[in-house]
Amino acid sequence: MKRRVFFERLITFGAISGMSLISLFGVFPSFFSTRRTSTKLVLGTEEELFKQTSFITKHIDNRTFIMKKTAEGTIEAFDAACTHAGCPVQWNEIDQTFLCKCHGGIFDAQGLPLAGPPKKPLNKLTVKKRDITEELIIYLDNEQE
Ligand code: FES
Repeated sequence: MKRRVFFERLITFGAISGMSLISLFGVFPSFFSTRRTSTKLVLGTEEELFKQTSFITKHIDNRTFIMKKTAEGTIEAFDAACTHAGCPVQWNEIDQTFLCKCHGGIFDAQGLPLAGPPKKPLNKLTVKKRDITEELIIYLDNEQE
């Protein structure tokens, strides 16, 4: 093979490869992005989890989540990180509030700020029930499958 032919083929191959990569990134940008995929936590059935309590606290990957069952029977979940400076809040069953002990922040049962420095509500998470097993799933980043 002559040198000129070799370089022509090399340039052609490079151009085709480059265009293919550009096409792939354009068509499937999420495939190549570094965005995290949905993180979910499968906990168990409602009957198992709330047999003796109306709320549970779970820790995973240095994050804390609070899941509670309302008087109406609705299951709700919140990221327990206080929106002021990230301290963990605790659910107060008697007052039906979330309390942050770091600076005295208080949130209502829906996670809305009531008192203290927090101005933003707690991050409410999506909770779903699996069809067949009826296990409860918390979507930790509010991204669902
Ligand atoms: S971190 Fe919660 S009130 Fe400051």
